[in-house]
Amino acid sequence: MEFNFIAPSKTVFKSGALEEIGKYIDGYGKRFLIVIDPAFEQNGTLGVVKSRLDELGLAYTCYLGVVGEPDVSYVDDASLQAQEFGCDVVLSIGGGSCIDVGKASAGVITNGLPIKDYLEYVGTGRKVEKPPLPFIAMPTTAGTGAEVTKLAVIGSKKEKFKRSIRDDQLIANLCIIDPKLCASAPPKVTAIAGIDAMAHNMEAYTSVKATPLTKNMALSGIALAGKYLKRAYDNGSDLEAREGMSMSAYTGGLSFSNSGLGAAHGMGMAINIYYPVPHGFGVGVTLPYVMEVNANANPTLYDEVGELFAGRRFGKPGDGSAYAIEFIRKLNAGIGIPVNLKELGADRETALLMGEKCFGTSMSGNPVQLDGKAWGEVFLKMI
Ligand SMILES: NC(=O)c1ccc[n+]([C@@H]2O[C@H](COP(=O)([O-])OP(=O)(O)OC[C@H]3O[C@@H](n4cnc5c(N)ncnc54)[C@H](O)[C@@H]3O)[C@@H](O)[C@H]2O)c1
Ligand SMILES: [Fe+2]
Repeated sequence: MEFNFIAPSKTVFKSGALEEIGKYIDGYGKRFLIVIDPAFEQNGTLGVVKSRLDELGLAYTCYLGVVGEPDVSYVDDASLQAQEFGCDVVLSIGGGSCIDVGKASAGVITNGLPIKDYLEYVGTGRKVEKPPLPFIAMPTTAGTGAEVTKLAVIGSKKEKFKRSIRDDQLIANLCIIDPKLCASAPPKVTAIAGIDAMAHNMEAYTSVKATPLTKNMALSGIALAGKYLKRAYDNGSDLEAREGMSMSAYTGGLSFSNSGLGAAHGMGMAINIYYPVPHGFGVGVTLPYVMEVNANANPTLYDEVGELFAGRRFGKPGDGSAYAIEFIRKLNAGIGIPVNLKELGADRETALLMGEKCFGTSMSGNPVQLDGKAWGEVFLKMI
């Protein structure tokens, strides 16, 4: 057996950690760039952070410009702001979008602008050579796992791309998970982020690059999302459910960043080339279709997952897999994720084009490899 495993140097998991943030972040730097979702300025969270930094005599400048999916302009603007202020540490508080803007900025501030140079496929091949600034991540959506991964996904609304900057050095130095921060997430955000977490765990579990460590973590994350996603969606202030989903997002991030993903992420990325829907939407809609394709080739692939969901053993090989696929369909229905892509209005030609566009790092982990035409046929079932 042989594997590598990479993770943030330190994780603090505690409901209410925000109130004690001072004791966790002390020592990482003296001048902070805070990249925070504007929603947290309005609800007082930023005020708590500022007062804890003030108590420690630490300086800060805040970037509140992340609106919607991360754009290259956000990273360049935040990095310039940090350079002008002389920042020596970056703190992100928000969903995957804020975390990715902060993470990419931490690399760009020390290595030089613009961010586009470093992005896979669309950049100049520039690398993160100098160590990034120390990076601290506080997730607020329980979904992407960006708080533990070594990549940031940055797009351009102008040039219509969405690509990753990826480097081991980008991984957070400190990850503070306070599930209470997710309590204010509206049901739609909870659903989209939560099904993304479920898909990270599910695809890491079946990835051809899975290791015993990632497989076990992913399986525990699948069980948590199976138990708690609907509860968190139905009642945002159910703290036990928020804790369960924060943990599921954490295992999902740790497992997929060390083992790769699968076809739901490959297809989800292809959907995003043509339609500006949230990442978790495309991944969530396609997940049961992908599980069906994978189980057709290997009927027992999800047997263990089905048994976890059902809380019982099944007599016949394959019955657990069938149960798992049906469970995901019902979960989607219960949290407002549609059964297909009809609402996007895609025509036949676009469906087939999307089939050709779903290849890349994510797809390479899928246990079943089809050609573009065959994935296009799967898209045809969804339109
Ligand atoms: N770096 C990685 O490893 C990685 C992995 C998967 C996805 N991603 C990226 O993450 C991004 C999506 O992140 P996301 O799903 O977390 O959503 P998000 O960060 O885009 O946030 C979605 C919406 O929810 C709001 N919001 C977030 N937390 C809230 C809270 N607690 N209360 C109230 N409102 C809240 C935001 O203001 C925003 O309007 C995508 O760009 C995706 O590509 C990154
Ligand atoms: Fe994802």
